[in-house]
Amino acid sequence: MSKRFYITTAIDYVNGRPHLGHAYEKVVADVIARSHRSLGDDTFFLTGLDEHGQKVQQAAAAEGKTAAVYCEELASIWQELAQKLQLTNNDFVRTTQPRHQAAVQTILSKLHAEGHFYKEVYEGFYSAREETFLTEKDRRPDGTFDPMYGEVTRLQEQNYYFKLRDHQQWLIDHIERNPSFVVPDYRRNEVLGFLKNNVLEDLCISRPAARLNWGIPLPFDPDYVTYVWFDALSNYISVPASSGDPGVPPWLVPSNSAHAGESSLWPADIHVIGKDILKFHAVYWPIMLKAMGAELPKQLLVHGWWQKDGQRMSKSTGNVVDPVAVIDEWGVDAFRFYVLRELDIGPDGNWTDAGFRARYSAELANGLGNLVNRSLSMLKRYRDGRLLRVSAELAPDADRIVAETRARLEKNELQGALQAIWSLVTRGNQYVDHTAPFKLAKDPANAERLDEVLYNLAEVCRILAVLLWPFLPGTAVKIYAQLGLEGVPDRFADSAWGRLAPRHTIGSPEPLFPRKDP
Ligand code: MSP
Repeated sequence: MSKRFYITTAIDYVNGRPHLGHAYEKVVADVIARSHRSLGDDTFFLTGLDEHGQKVQQAAAAEGKTAAVYCEELASIWQELAQKLQLTNNDFVRTTQPRHQAAVQTILSKLHAEGHFYKEVYEGFYSAREETFLTEKDRRPDGTFDPMYGEVTRLQEQNYYFKLRDHQQWLIDHIERNPSFVVPDYRRNEVLGFLKNNVLEDLCISRPAARLNWGIPLPFDPDYVTYVWFDALSNYISVPASSGDPGVPPWLVPSNSAHAGESSLWPADIHVIGKDILKFHAVYWPIMLKAMGAELPKQLLVHGWWQKDGQRMSKSTGNVVDPVAVIDEWGVDAFRFYVLRELDIGPDGNWTDAGFRARYSAELANGLGNLVNRSLSMLKRYRDGRLLRVSAELAPDADRIVAETRARLEKNELQGALQAIWSLVTRGNQYVDHTAPFKLAKDPANAERLDEVLYNLAEVCRILAVLLWPFLPGTAVKIYAQLGLEGVPDRFADSAWGRLAPRHTIGSPEPLFPRKDP
């Protein structure tokens, strides 16, 4: 059985509109998916929406709509964003889809039948606003609860619980034996610290339908719906299961599903997630999978959070960065470039409009845009767009940078890969300054040298298009078209030096990143 490279993102709650943080995560996953395809891996990229639960039910009620209507309206806004970001996702999962709901119910029935759940009365302090039971730890020193919890009442409620405790040592061992299961390291240490210093409490996997009806009914007790996290985490396996994936446990594959053939998606290679949802993915999800007898994902790649001007983004502060507005004004590649170049995967980042403009102007317009535009314009002006002589003067620099970019991509170091690519941009611009083709062109005695210089510049532009494809796909395609090349630069192997043939004629140079007034 062969294995496809399978990458996922968190699925977003549809309790509002998408913002910078949601868009960033999806772009990170898209670049990794595109890089793998470019490097020759058969790749499947999944993203989607988390539509059930209290947050969504409340948001719908606040607008006087049913949850179903509300989700339908918002889902199209989120799907439009996926297109605007030029995501190359192969599927888009919504937890309200029948294929997903069926898989969740199959999982619940199986785990129930095998004795992983028990029903118990829980009595404690309950915050309706946060839809959660509070513990002694949540009390303030004077014994009261923080006003953010709203009215806190004593509540007795019967629910279903998933036994986690028996799996605690197994999970610690798994994370210790697999250093790349949680990346970066400091997130892995955080999970290990949590697991070693706390006794895992069993997970409540139900909510009484009487107070929350927007969820998947428990197949063995219609008075309850499934806890939203149990529902949501299952998306990663419900999609492969519903298409007959040979990597998922056979009992989870519906009998009527089309058989996916011999290549499997499951286990996932990378779940890209934010730091706030690490515990769900590093603790609950592996234990769910172990109980199901399914293999564990290979890696959780954990990114940090964006702030705006040093502050947490929030609707009430009114400082939310809207990715659609940025893309409409600056173009999708400028958005993709800024978030990937500014923030490495791991630490928190800070969006400033001034920082965005500075990178646009220095690195995109004056760096990459200028190199491509002046190189191709000179070729047009001095040689009518024709390459007359092959040369490999810049090949050693290009080869080194291509190798470095590849090494960075293989480690998911996207910021590092962009730095490597921009060292080729800088090299190209220096080469123009040093060789001064505009001076060479004045004297026919320099004709051969000018031909060589123009070839090196065109070839650097072509290689840049190939390297940039995963990051700035629209720009990469434009560079290819301006070079008079057909198709898309989507194969990393084409970054080898010397693919432009002698006598090749380029197309028309056009500015890639129009300069904007300050
Ligand atoms: N629905 C759950 C995830 C279920 S996955 C099985 C959820 N949704 S969310 O909409 O709140 O967040 C979705 C993703 O966006 C998470 O990975 C989260 O970390 C990320 N981000 C939300 N705000 C963010 C920032 N300000 N910055 C970066 N990413 C952030 O959690």
